[in-house]
Order: sequence, then C-alpha cells, then structure tokens
Amino acid sequence: MNSTITLDSKILIAGHNGMVGSACWRALKGKGYKSIIGFSSKELDLRDQRAVFKMLEKEKPEVIIDAAAKVGGIIANSTYPYEFLMDNMLIQNNLIKAAHELDIPKFIFLGSSCIYPKMAPQPLKEEYLLTGPLEETNKWYAIAKISGVKLIEALREQYNRDYVSLMPTNLYGPGDNYDLKTSHVLPAMLRKFHEAKESNNSNVVLWGTGSPRREFLHVDDLANAVVYALENKLDRSLYNIGSGEEVSIKELASLIKNIVGFKGEIIWDNSKPDGTPRKLLDSTKINRLGWNSRINLDYGVKKVYRSQF
Ligand SMILES: NC(=O)c1ccc[n+]([C@@H]2O[C@H](COP(=O)([O-])OP(=O)(O)OC[C@H]3O[C@@H](n4cnc5c(N)ncnc54)[C@H](OP(=O)(O)O)[C@@H]3O)[C@@H](O)[C@H]2O)c1
Repeated sequence: MNSTITLDSKILIAGHNGMVGSACWRALKGKGYKSIIGFSSKELDLRDQRAVFKMLEKEKPEVIIDAAAKVGGIIANSTYPYEFLMDNMLIQNNLIKAAHELDIPKFIFLGSSCIYPKMAPQPLKEEYLLTGPLEETNKWYAIAKISGVKLIEALREQYNRDYVSLMPTNLYGPGDNYDLKTSHVLPAMLRKFHEAKESNNSNVVLWGTGSPRREFLHVDDLANAVVYALENKLDRSLYNIGSGEEVSIKELASLIKNIVGFKGEIIWDNSKPDGTPRKLLDSTKINRLGWNSRINLDYGVKKVYRSQF
C-alpha cells in the first residue's frame, strides 16, 4: 500500500446503492475499511452543485469513489439523450469540482468502455480515446464520461492531483438491473430465459444477429480494481478494467440458456440493432501493475443466476 489512505480513512461512495457502488462497499468492508459513507439519490441529488459542495464540506472524506450515474441500455439512451448527457455531466462535474476545491486527496472516477471510437482497432487501448466517431446508440452518455476523463487528466497535469479514471467493460453481478426496457444484454437474457423456462415457452426471441462480440466482467472483480486504485498511487490518469474474456452474443445466449436450463429454441430478431460489432478492452496497463480479473464468465453467471432468480 503506497498511498496515504488507511483503514480509518473516510471514503465516500457516490451511488453506493447501485450495482457498482454496492460491490465497492462490500469489497471495502471486506478489507476492514471502517469509515465508508454514501447517500441515496433521494437523500442527495448529485445534480445539485450547492448540495454536493455542502455535503463534502461537512463530511470531508479522504477518498471519493464516483459510481453514480444515469446508466441504461440502447432504448434508454436513444429515448433520453438530453438527460444522459446533462445528468451525467452534472453528477461527475459537481463531485470533481467540489473535491478539488475542498482539497480532497483521492478521487476514483468510473466511466465505461463506450468512450472509445466505434471502429477503433481491437482490443481498445487507452490511447485510442478521441481518435474517431462514437457508437451512435450511446454517444450522449459517452461524451459525458469523456469530459469526466478529461477533467481528471487536467487536474493531474495542472494540480498533480492523485485522481484517476477507471473504464470498466460491460459489468454484471448482484444488484444488476433486470428491467427489459433499460437493462444491458446479459441481465436481459437471464430474465428472458428464466421466464421462458418458468412458463414452458417453446422459444425465446433475442435482439439482433447474435454476431457482435462482447467482453464481460463480474462487478466484484471491478470492485477489487477500485480498491487497488484506492490503495496505490497510479502513474496514469486512465486505466481500462476488463476480463480479457470475449464471447459472441450467440455464445453468451447458449451459455445462459444452459445455465438456466431452458430447452426451447432461440429466435434472432434481425430487425433490432446490434450496436458496436466488437468491444474488447486492452487491460494490459492495469494487469502489469498487478490487478487481474478472477471470476470467469461461466462461474460468474451461474453465481448470479442462483442468487438472483
Ligand atoms: N452497468 C454496467 O455494465 C457498467 C459498465 C461499465 C461502467 N459502468 C459504470 O459504473 C457506474 C455505476 O453503474 P451501475 O451499473 O452501478 O449503475 P446503477 O446500478 O444504475 O447505479 C447508479 C447509482 O447512481 C445513483 N444516482 C443516479 N443518479 C443520481 C443522482 N442524480 N443523485 C444521486 N445519485 C444518483 C443511483 O442512486 P440511487 O440508487 O440512490 O437512486 C445508483 O445508486 C457508472 O459510472 C457507469 O458508468 C457500469
């Protein structure tokens, strides 16, 4: 541990009720951190700059983990472009601005792999940021997160702040969102196959062609990466956090079909969008420092299915 942070340090987790925030809370508690705080969006709306400043002025945490955001799948992003851009900019900018002005020593900003250009070479390296056009279906959210990454970079360069951005790949795990209108592909599949099995349906209809390739990471692995970043002074401002394990949507569907035990057919609805053809992160930089994912997809999805359904 070459950081000033100790087990008594006060740590604020923004979005502590969310899938990522709650995983970070579990991981930190598990490591013996004693002073962890969080506020629900009902208790504190992070879009309110004055309220955020007042809370941080009062609480004076030594670390802020920003796991709060307006997140959602393809439908939500294309239905609410303004909110996905403005709300996410407000949430991150209010926290980053107040943290800097109140001289809070450590800040961990969480973004997502959709910040990288749609057609960038794969696997995606951190240096590919802003080298080409974004995936249209979630560009609003991506632009907000890119501005957060750049704020963190600017504060490191201009004020030598020990602030860092972590870009996780697609996440899954306890506390995921299973609402078919706003969820991501993996939880949506788990729910569809489970309900089809329970109702003895003869088939399940899935979006797209099944050919896109995706990388998934269990949220507990990500939480371990957040703890690693908290306990170490990292020498770069941006790190990809991925498992390096890539599957096609078709392979994911048959993995989940088998785990759930659904015996019927899979029908692919080609009229629905596929999204980016491939999205695999290059996580060499954080791997070289010593963090690697530990939960493989088969074991992770089985664990989630048993605990959530
Ligand atoms: N899910 C993924 O696959 C994925 C992949 C890569 C990166 N990430 C990143 O991980 C972070 C968290 O994602 P998640 O999956 O954990 O999302 P989530 O489960 O939806 O959690 C989002 C959290 O943000 C809080 N929040 C939202 N708007 C707020 C506001 N106006 N004021 C205060 N709190 C607010 C929510 O608070 P309440 O619960 O109190 O309402 C919730 O706890 C995001 O930065 C996202 O970019 C997620």
